[in-house]
Amino acid sequence: MKALILNGPNLNLLGTREPDIYGTKTLDDVARECQAKGTDIGVDVDFRQSNFEGQLVEWIQEAADTTDAIVINAAAYTHTSVAIHDALKSYPGFKVELHISNPHLRESFRHVSFVSPVVDAVVAGLGTDGYAHVVEMLPELLEKT
Ligand code: DQA
Repeated sequence: MKALILNGPNLNLLGTREPDIYGTKTLDDVARECQAKGTDIGVDVDFRQSNFEGQLVEWIQEAADTTDAIVINAAAYTHTSVAIHDALKSYPGFKVELHISNPHLRESFRHVSFVSPVVDAVVAGLGTDGYAHVVEMLPELLEKT
């Protein structure tokens, strides 16, 4: 099983960016945790980050033929991007929207998600641990689809 984990803008700053909200682990720490979990359970994890909307769209398009699942933390693009919404809509595999924080407890502009209507599941508010938890659940979730 192959999973692509995508991270949007400013998530490269994890560890130093608003640690009270996002914690102190770096994105590399999170990638290593996901890859270790994936290795344990037979999920091949490809973990990426970009600050560019078009790059995320291209990765989603390319993943259609090569992966079984996408886990996406689109970060601020969650709340703005019709392009990412459309790309995800065309992706045939299993899709999970992930947020480190719970956007619904934050500013009102974070309460809208262009991603939620086109994914199978939403995970928010579990901190950076949420990533590895989602990886762990993927085999079971995919089996049910
Ligand atoms: C985030 C929440 C978004 O509102 C924010 O723009 C982010 C991170 C999260 O993981 O909690 O960059 O997606």
